[in-house]
Amino acid sequence: MPPQITVLDAGGQYCHLIARRVRNFGVYAEVAPSETPASSLTGRKGIIISGGPASVHDPGSPTIDPTLLRSGTPVLGICYGHQLMTQLLGGKVEKGEHGEYGFAQLKIDVNDGVLRGLDPRQQVWMSHFDTVVAAPEGFRVLASTETCTIAAIADPEKKLFAVQFHPEVAHTPCGPAILKNFLFDICGCVPDWDPAGQVLAIEEHIRKTAGDRNIFFFVSGGVDSTVAYHLCLRALGADRVRGAYVDTGLMREGETSLVRRNFESLSVFDASAEFLGALENITDPEQKRRAIGEGFVKVQERVLESEHFLDGRWILGQGTIYPDTIESGGSAKADLIKTHHNRVPGIQALIAAGRIVEPLASFYKDEVRAIGRELHLNPELLDRHPFPGPGLAIRCLCSTTEGAPEKAAEGWILPVRSVGVQGDARTYRPVLVLERFPESMEEAARLTNRIAGVNRVIVAVWTACHVDQLRTFRASLSPERLARLRRADAIVRSLAREFDASIWQFPVVLIPAGTPDRPDSVVLRPIDSVDGMTASAVRMPAPLLESIAAALREVEGIGGVFYDITNKPPATIEWE
Ligand code: XMP
Repeated sequence: MPPQITVLDAGGQYCHLIARRVRNFGVYAEVAPSETPASSLTGRKGIIISGGPASVHDPGSPTIDPTLLRSGTPVLGICYGHQLMTQLLGGKVEKGEHGEYGFAQLKIDVNDGVLRGLDPRQQVWMSHFDTVVAAPEGFRVLASTETCTIAAIADPEKKLFAVQFHPEVAHTPCGPAILKNFLFDICGCVPDWDPAGQVLAIEEHIRKTAGDRNIFFFVSGGVDSTVAYHLCLRALGADRVRGAYVDTGLMREGETSLVRRNFESLSVFDASAEFLGALENITDPEQKRRAIGEGFVKVQERVLESEHFLDGRWILGQGTIYPDTIESGGSAKADLIKTHHNRVPGIQALIAAGRIVEPLASFYKDEVRAIGRELHLNPELLDRHPFPGPGLAIRCLCSTTEGAPEKAAEGWILPVRSVGVQGDARTYRPVLVLERFPESMEEAARLTNRIAGVNRVIVAVWTACHVDQLRTFRASLSPERLARLRRADAIVRSLAREFDASIWQFPVVLIPAGTPDRPDSVVLRPIDSVDGMTASAVRMPAPLLESIAAALREVEGIGGVFYDITNKPPATIEWE
């Protein structure tokens, strides 16, 4: 189906979010590299240029084919797109001094074009460094904020529009109205997109791709591979579709039986002894990942051989979804994350030979869930949070040293090293423990900025002794610690069902800190996110936290319960 709207990706983390928002209005949209030639975009009803972290003044910064701006096709520039459109058409963009990040009050002087029908005062979300200081000739300034005098511009005759703020994010309440104005009033789009209505077409595509061959999947129990598998099952019948599941011993409680229940023809390969053996003496997070990746390669090669999946009768099915297929700011991580599946030489040979079917390659996660609901798949499965391939291994922190907390002005510095992202680099740093929740979750950002050497802030919810008496211990990925974490995770999952449904992800992490009798602690890490690239810590209702803490203190070996209040950045979602 040809897209009505193309979102040109200028490197912004919100690029996919824009396309998703457009699709949510029932208008099929795709993402394309910003430099896509206008000749490849003929027939589009409109073009949106996304935001991005670059400055139009930087050499090599993303640009677009300028003929697009003269083609008569409506164009909406967002953030960097606003600045790029301005610069390409002869307006002026200046390097900002401080940038503007966060909420701003938009004052609308001309409520026309994309701003039609909006009240004159609106809350919007800003995230920019450079500023437009002179609109191009022929453009009118429609709106401003206190620090940004040219926050929205339009040349309605040429159907060109641009806004400095982000209409695609939830922090801009009038964003949907702006996008709707652009899509329907200006571009004349028609709502023609319903992912759940695509099921028959997808099944047809699967039959065509498979021909007379069968399809096998390496399934993980995640949403994408489950939905993709069931689509293939419907398309070809149970005799022609097989799932192979590798039990690494690093899964959650009940995971293998849940997967068994949800896949009809499934071969389970128990490789737990192999994985746990390989991880026995590893404490370094990167080495852990590598050992698990290599373990997958070995087991998958074995499965491919023993099940004869490499002979001509089989093709590989994968649960790849749309953001995984596109190189962009918002999805680079997806490639990284899936490497341990794609790197297997046998699989690479299948991909190179085109012996692969990816039924969900043009869908976003929420659309995959809609398709799953259409197929009447188990809602418990569809609404699951993302779960990392290396499983509990990256939620079970190890250590080669012992230590004690150090007093800091604001709390205690606990010498367990968790991973963070600060600037472009990954950092492994100790965490700051507060004895109570600060007034606002924003406090964590202030503290990590102020206290050099700390990338994360956690609050002590319950500890078996006072925080200053806690100790950190040498620890590895022993079966005992994994069992402890698995239990703690299962307790949290059963108590937080409703809360889980309201947020994006909620890792439960084990850290080697406690007392000699209770040498580990649990860290609760509930976060909200759009795509995992950035995240904000979420506070759970106090009664729920109390009941979770009360249940966790009953778990053998648990000496403390902590609550991570750090956003990403500076801390990552997982602790590793
Ligand atoms: P971080 O910790 O980098 O995580 O903020 C971002 C998202 O990626 C997931 N994640 C992984 N998924 N293998 C995976 O399959 C991995 O090694 C891995 N590391 C992080 C994480 O759960 C979060 O959703």
